[in-house]
Amino acid sequence: MRVVSGIQPTGNLHLGNYLGAIVNWVKMQDESECLFFLADLHAISMPTDAAALSASTREMAAALIASGVDPERAVLFNQARVPGHAELCWLLNGTARMGWLNRMTQFKDKSGKNREGASIALYAYPVLQAADVLLYNATHVPVGQDQKQHLELARDVAEKFNADTGTETFILPEPYIGTTAARIMSLRDGTAKMSKSDVSEMSRINLSDDSDTVAKKIRKAKTDAEPLPETMAELEDRPEAKNLVSIYAALAEIEPQAVLGQFAGKGFGEFKPALADLTVSVLEPVSARFNALKDDISAIDAILERGAEKAKAAGAPTLSAAYRALGLLSGH
Ligand code: TYM
Repeated sequence: MRVVSGIQPTGNLHLGNYLGAIVNWVKMQDESECLFFLADLHAISMPTDAAALSASTREMAAALIASGVDPERAVLFNQARVPGHAELCWLLNGTARMGWLNRMTQFKDKSGKNREGASIALYAYPVLQAADVLLYNATHVPVGQDQKQHLELARDVAEKFNADTGTETFILPEPYIGTTAARIMSLRDGTAKMSKSDVSEMSRINLSDDSDTVAKKIRKAKTDAEPLPETMAELEDRPEAKNLVSIYAALAEIEPQAVLGQFAGKGFGEFKPALADLTVSVLEPVSARFNALKDDISAIDAILERGAEKAKAAGAPTLSAAYRALGLLSGH
């Protein structure tokens, strides 16, 4: 079993990333060989400022370590330091089909009405993501629900590449998607996912938020006037309420139904302060570690450099196999 996953180093690490993906990364590093990376090459698919990208790549590395990713147990690096990602992406561009990419909902969402003006990188984004996991023969990829379609494409690319070349160059990766926190929603709109790109800071809880800010965001979270019901089924048409119950369950590591067991019949006046206390108790140590780490740039760079060396070695056999399978005289 080999676990691979990534996160874009744009914006802050938020509660959706943390509960949807990072908590599972931290659990998996105890059981399996894990490679986790900052997807800085993906970040340039949207307009970026050079200095801000360097800073946020280091900051996201600090946030991951603060969340429990341990560079001694897992390989932690940034994509740009491992040329195999970009190289394999180009090789896979020969396999991926335009029709497949045209179906990707993230491209549709991010390009919006300005499809003609979108970058080629935004369009080819899922091919780079396929390269990220196939390079290391990943078997399991822990992600939130929103990445499922990209991982299905990675499987399609792997399968077609193997079939076209008559080789078994790639292993087909399995997405690993948790249940309770697979899709944490915005605090302002229960039908939109919590996201780094939402213009409203009130829509998300960042891991770097202080306790007062966390409490304020939860207090102001959109809800309804009804008390909490007995069963999760009754929350189906109350997306904001369902989201807060799911967040509570994920933070407490219990089933959502058990949260209702505790709070059924109670209103948000009672539930929100309990949720705020729980959130603060989980995030406070993370943000304390983050604040202690984030300015130690040389330590962070050393971790990323060491991780990149290990990642290069881990990816080298598959990269050579891919060049060979295509008949490219690459010297690999
Ligand atoms: P990114 O940077 O948007 O998010 C990082 C991880 O957080 C999960 N996530 C969420 N989970 C639950 N609720 C939410 N509201 C929420 N928002 C984000 C994402 O599903 C993801 O697991 N394309 C990827 C990065 C990437 C990658 C890869 C992932 C690049 N290459 C290879 C896996 C394998 C992305 O933009 O994630």
